[in-house]
Amino acid sequence: MKKKIISTALSITMAASLVGCAVSPDAEENAATGEGELQVGIVLPTRDEPRWIQDEASFTSILGDAGFTSEVLFSQGSSATELTNVESLIEKGIDVLVICAQDATAAAQAVEVAHAAGVQVICYDRLITDTDAVDYYVTFNSFDVGVQQGQYLIDAYAGQTGVPLYLYSGATTDNNAFIFFAGAWSVLSDAVASGQFTVANCDAIAPYIGQTLDVTADHEALADILGTITTNWDFNTAKSLAEANLVANDASLKGDVAILAPNDGTARAIADAFNADADVSSFVVTGQDCETASLGYICSGLQSMTIWKNTAELASTTCDMVNAILSGNAPATSTTYNNGVIEVPSNETAVTVITIDNISEPVDAGYVSASDIEGYPG
Ligand code: BGC
Repeated sequence: MKKKIISTALSITMAASLVGCAVSPDAEENAATGEGELQVGIVLPTRDEPRWIQDEASFTSILGDAGFTSEVLFSQGSSATELTNVESLIEKGIDVLVICAQDATAAAQAVEVAHAAGVQVICYDRLITDTDAVDYYVTFNSFDVGVQQGQYLIDAYAGQTGVPLYLYSGATTDNNAFIFFAGAWSVLSDAVASGQFTVANCDAIAPYIGQTLDVTADHEALADILGTITTNWDFNTAKSLAEANLVANDASLKGDVAILAPNDGTARAIADAFNADADVSSFVVTGQDCETASLGYICSGLQSMTIWKNTAELASTTCDMVNAILSGNAPATSTTYNNGVIEVPSNETAVTVITIDNISEPVDAGYVSASDIEGYPG
């Protein structure tokens, strides 16, 4: 295994131009008669992760091409900043707020302020919970993200028994972290029960081996489990937690190991920790977001897979919803998500597993640039 650290330099070559938003004549008229007021306000969690910069680029391009006036603001990890951002966008006259919550429950206050001002609210990627002040939800199929991560580990160690399995999750303030983990556990649970894997770092999961966990019904149990394995979506936390797990375990829980890492940033941090442990001979580690740095890790064998969530598609679905709302119509939705208070009308976008075998897919689609991926073949 190479001990090579790949630069995390970010470059976005968005496929936004390939994915558009159908604008009705009504909305075009609305756009034209907007009298200079901002129509759409977008609030994203942080600039510090490539994922959200990709979303920003998608929104700017797709909403701009559709003729809507919009502004993107970042909360930088603070629910207080998130609220201030929402208030400032309301002051600028927005009709629609698109918000990816910093904290699922804390954001309820911000969307209640928006609703009180007559602004329609679209939850973007992360569901805001415990409030009725949300109108729509646009998301990737997050449960499937988890299923694909778990299944990848199962397939990678097919036919083996007693493989140490290290579990890590996203932030417990993010509803998605619950969905990703429940999705992964929906397939890993039986693989642990059958003896293929031995969980190496999470005692709290023991009562649920052989059972699935439901995001709504088992929320408290999930919160307890995630509380012991959370990376808080933070690279340093992820690395320290992985190092602590490795210090706590002897060689019997090392060797060839499987690692459920929730996203690309944490996957690279966790991979670095496992790569530095002399008793770990090899590891298979999951990810998500299709970040260029992680595609580089995949090229060098330090990360096994990622999940491509095409942000241009999600922004395009959001744009279609904005278009319907500004035209006075109800946006088309395909499913609902329960946020603890209401069933939120939602649209789900499919995801794609990327490994070394199909790494050219996001490159060929123009989503990332080959020249930015360290070690890209060819
Ligand atoms: C998103 C992931 C992202 C994570 C950390 C989640 O809600 O769905 O794509 O990696 O947050 O920002």
